[in-house]
Amino acid sequence: MLFRKRLLWSLVLFGLLGGADFCSAKPLHRRILLDTDADADDLFALFYLLKQNQSEFHLQAVTITPNSWNDAGHAVNQVYDILYMMGRDDVSVGVGGEGTILSDGTILPNVGGYLPIIDQGESTAGPCRYRQSVPVGGSGGKLDVAANYGIRRGFLPQGNRKYSPLRQPTAQEVLIDTISKGPITIFMIGTHTNIGIFLMTNPHLKKNIEHIYVVGGGVRSKNPTGCCPKNASSPCKPSQCGDHGNLFTAYTYNPNAEFNMFQDPFAAYQVFHSGIPITLVPLDATNTIPVTENFLIEWEKRQQTYESQYCFQTLKLVRDTWFDDQFYTSYFMWDSFTSGVAVSIMRNLHSHNGENEFAEMEYINITIVTSNKPYGVSDGSNPFFDGRLTPKFYLQKNGVHSGHVMTGIKDPFCLVENGNGKGKCEDGYTKEVTGAEAVRVLLATKAKPNKDISSPLDREYFKNFLDVLNLPQGTGRFNFSTEYPYYKEVEYKPDFGKRKLGKPVVFDMDMSAGDFVALIYLLKVPVEVMNLKGILVSPTGWANAATIDIIYDVLHMMGRDDIPVGLGDVYAVNQSYGDCRYTKAIPNGDGGFIDSDTLYGLGRNLPRSPRRYTAHNSVKYGAPRNTDHPELRQPLALEVWNNISDSLDPQSKITILTNGPLTTLANIILSEEKSTSVIQNIYIVGGHISYDDMDHGNVFIIPSNKYAELNMFLDPFAAKKVFNSGLNITLIPLGVQRQVNSFRKILESLQLTKKTPEAVFTYRLLSRLHHLQHKYPRYHHMDIFLGEILGTIIAAGDDPHLHPFFQVKPIKVIAMGDESKDGQIVIDKKQGKLVKILESVNPREYYDYFAKLIGDKSQSAVIGSFDEQKIIWSTPSNKTRVIKKGKSIIFSNNSN
Ligand SMILES: *[C@@H]1O[C@H](CO)[C@@H](O)[C@H](O)[C@H]1NC(C)=O
Ligand SMILES: *[C@@H]1O[C@H](CO)[C@@H](O)[C@H](O)[C@H]1NC(C)=O
Ligand SMILES: *[C@@H]1O[C@H](CO)[C@@H](O)[C@H](O)[C@H]1NC(C)=O
Ligand SMILES: *[C@@H]1O[C@H](CO)[C@@H](O)[C@H](O)[C@H]1NC(C)=O
Ligand SMILES: *[C@@H]1O[C@H](CO)[C@@H](O)[C@H](O)[C@H]1NC(C)=O
Ligand SMILES: *[C@@H]1O[C@H](CO)[C@@H](O)[C@H](O)[C@H]1NC(C)=O
Ligand SMILES: *[C@@H]1O[C@H](CO)[C@@H](O)[C@H](O)[C@H]1NC(C)=O
Ligand SMILES: *[C@@H]1O[C@H](CO)[C@@H](O)[C@H](O)[C@H]1NC(C)=O
Repeated sequence: MLFRKRLLWSLVLFGLLGGADFCSAKPLHRRILLDTDADADDLFALFYLLKQNQSEFHLQAVTITPNSWNDAGHAVNQVYDILYMMGRDDVSVGVGGEGTILSDGTILPNVGGYLPIIDQGESTAGPCRYRQSVPVGGSGGKLDVAANYGIRRGFLPQGNRKYSPLRQPTAQEVLIDTISKGPITIFMIGTHTNIGIFLMTNPHLKKNIEHIYVVGGGVRSKNPTGCCPKNASSPCKPSQCGDHGNLFTAYTYNPNAEFNMFQDPFAAYQVFHSGIPITLVPLDATNTIPVTENFLIEWEKRQQTYESQYCFQTLKLVRDTWFDDQFYTSYFMWDSFTSGVAVSIMRNLHSHNGENEFAEMEYINITIVTSNKPYGVSDGSNPFFDGRLTPKFYLQKNGVHSGHVMTGIKDPFCLVENGNGKGKCEDGYTKEVTGAEAVRVLLATKAKPNKDISSPLDREYFKNFLDVLNLPQGTGRFNFSTEYPYYKEVEYKPDFGKRKLGKPVVFDMDMSAGDFVALIYLLKVPVEVMNLKGILVSPTGWANAATIDIIYDVLHMMGRDDIPVGLGDVYAVNQSYGDCRYTKAIPNGDGGFIDSDTLYGLGRNLPRSPRRYTAHNSVKYGAPRNTDHPELRQPLALEVWNNISDSLDPQSKITILTNGPLTTLANIILSEEKSTSVIQNIYIVGGHISYDDMDHGNVFIIPSNKYAELNMFLDPFAAKKVFNSGLNITLIPLGVQRQVNSFRKILESLQLTKKTPEAVFTYRLLSRLHHLQHKYPRYHHMDIFLGEILGTIIAAGDDPHLHPFFQVKPIKVIAMGDESKDGQIVIDKKQGKLVKILESVNPREYYDYFAKLIGDKSQSAVIGSFDEQKIIWSTPSNKTRVIKKGKSIIFSNNSN
């Protein structure tokens, strides 16, 4: 009976949809797909859409383009959490994919969109030609975006959906699935890679796409940022003022492009030339709706819903951390304004001239510039043509795609001699043209003023945006703390009583999977042997800097919220802004960033720490202004280091263990030679010493570099600095790591040990890595991470059965800026520095020794998991106190 009723209903619904074009009296019902790069203002657009009446504007799916301001793993989990908060776990979410483009131009299924189409080859790793324009660190760069300025983890509740390796639907799967189900409208508020690939590979599904709304580009725009005020007191040099584009990091080379278009001009070309009707909301229009002080003041007063709070807090922190005093002429309503214009046009049933409440519109003929004139030159900048008999995708030999393509943001080709200081490059420019290349699009030209001139909000859209975000209908259900009746933030700090603390140790990690296991192990080594004083993060390796939150969570689990964590530099030593010469060796997809940034999908199983990364900052530390909570500021690696070395007893010295690139350590050495006088010795996990031609390193993405090991390769100049420092170094190189990288054996040993929460977690993580390595070629390198644990065990150095065997050798690291040699280690009797090298250990002892300590009840977790935390937060506090007391008894049992 029930089944029948449903069938009937779906027939009715189907009839409604199918008959859409014939029945003008039907209620408005639009299916919508949002393709986003999950930057802060993308979130505003997403919330705006979620707050619409669902029977009119029904968001079906979100696909994430990871080729821009965010990293896939952080972006997708944030989107899942937003949907959970909004009660919309029905919306499908797609990100990534391991498909590739073969050199003959064949596009395989599931291209992940991590790279612009022009650079997409056979892996998810690749150069950062356009992406160099996106800053990597804080101050609004990828770190801040990934953490949503630190607000995300304090605010958004965490539901059951999350990224998990190989279970996560890919962007292309979600696009195909959603678009093939029926007529749909696409909102594109990020880079065009996903949709460009989709259109190239699924021409038969184009017919279902009714309309595409795009934010980006600049046609006749004149950038109001970087202009000199008329009354400027001191001499002022205009910067990007008056440009069509907004690449604040590259305008002297390309003043014409806007960020979304610039990240993948060829993909944008595919979208615009697809024949699908397009409405573009370019900088022309968004430049006329800058975020004003009044808007923020009004918004502060109107935070009736969780979504309004979340977006307001975000925007406020963006403003408060803005790098100069130009926020109000630099930050615009980009993506959310586009959602507003689109929804309003759709409400008018796509009226012919796009009449809507919020923007003035006009038709215009444009194209997307993908290469610079003269066309047909073969200057090595354009992989579609260079060195090929037939151009890729059968592009036309002297056509619009055949000119010079910018090779990076500082491409000398773009400079104009004796010019006005502006480059000539047009890659990504939405340029007005006539003739065969012209595509007619509906263009927003100007934001409409508020009809109510007495309102402090000067644009019609501001009013609507605040109304919609504060609507009680369809509102967020709770935030992270209000989801639980007995939520409480607790910091766990140990009481070591009279225990005599062992040697002070500082751990420097790049947050690869192995580093987290190493960290758990370090926390298990009896404090009488090793006293972990601090953690330094080198985010120049396997993970985005925002992954630092997982470190905080591991420390919280282990009851060590007292340990300071300092964030190191996001660029390798000697790298200029945005250069990815070395990090391009890390895949963006499977087995790379998406997995490290989520700890292979397991990061969210950890209890959540009240400590986390935040963009909050303080003038005292060089920030442009104090934010509301300067005390929450994320400390830097050097600060933590200086604190630790200043607080040492006069007779003690620090042991450093590094598990990643040596960026942070090199910066410590560079900062002040005296700061190294407190270093006892350094254990470095990494480096490879080849004994014959076949004895290869592990920089697997760059085949020309046969002999380097990744930690050295990722920052060779730092490695050179460290090895030349004259400090006492013990190297734990790849060769010996490979003697102890058997997943099978370590898992067997762990199975036999006691099930402490940390043993359970370690087992899950390692068995997941093992499973992935066993099953899927993309995960062939998982044993790299297993080898990383060895350094900790050697540094602890208290097991007589391990039989470590060392040799002292004169070594030298190659650092010349040549990617086929950088990071290699050679034995050099004349110039090499003497280093103690671990040659072998007793492998059988090793696994058991590791497992036994992880399963030891001493120094064990005080809270096992996020699930356990949820139980505590759902129980009255008089009951939880009993639970917690039990834990702390276990913990303090060790004190004798
Ligand atoms: C949503 O739209 C439907 C169809 O147009 C309408 O019947 C319904 O009343 C609307 N709901 C709200 C809360 O406005
Ligand atoms: C969560 O919501 C509560 C109740 O509105 C509020 O007091 C709290 O500040 C919110 N949390 C955050 C992180 O803003
Ligand atoms: C310039 O004028 C603006 C407003 O017209 C004013 O806010 C600002 O303080 C003035 N600056 C100087 C340096 O006089
Ligand atoms: C755009 O081009 C079409 C022909 O392709 C032409 O008919 C139309 O007038 C042009 N529109 C504008 C605004 O230039
Ligand atoms: C690297 O940096 C150091 C110190 O800043 C400098 O002396 C050296 O010349 C640089 N090397 C290269 C290849 O840029
Ligand atoms: C350094 O130590 C001082 C005093 O103990 C403390 O207040 C501060 O937070 C520490 N800073 C860092 C970066 O650890
Ligand atoms: C290196 O370590 C040895 C013993 O561990 C010590 O005697 C020597 O002074 C150290 N050298 C430096 C430069 O710290
Ligand atoms: C715990 O507190 C609740 C109210 O918060 C109360 O109803 C209950 O009786 C208390 N239980 C005990 C064991 O004290």
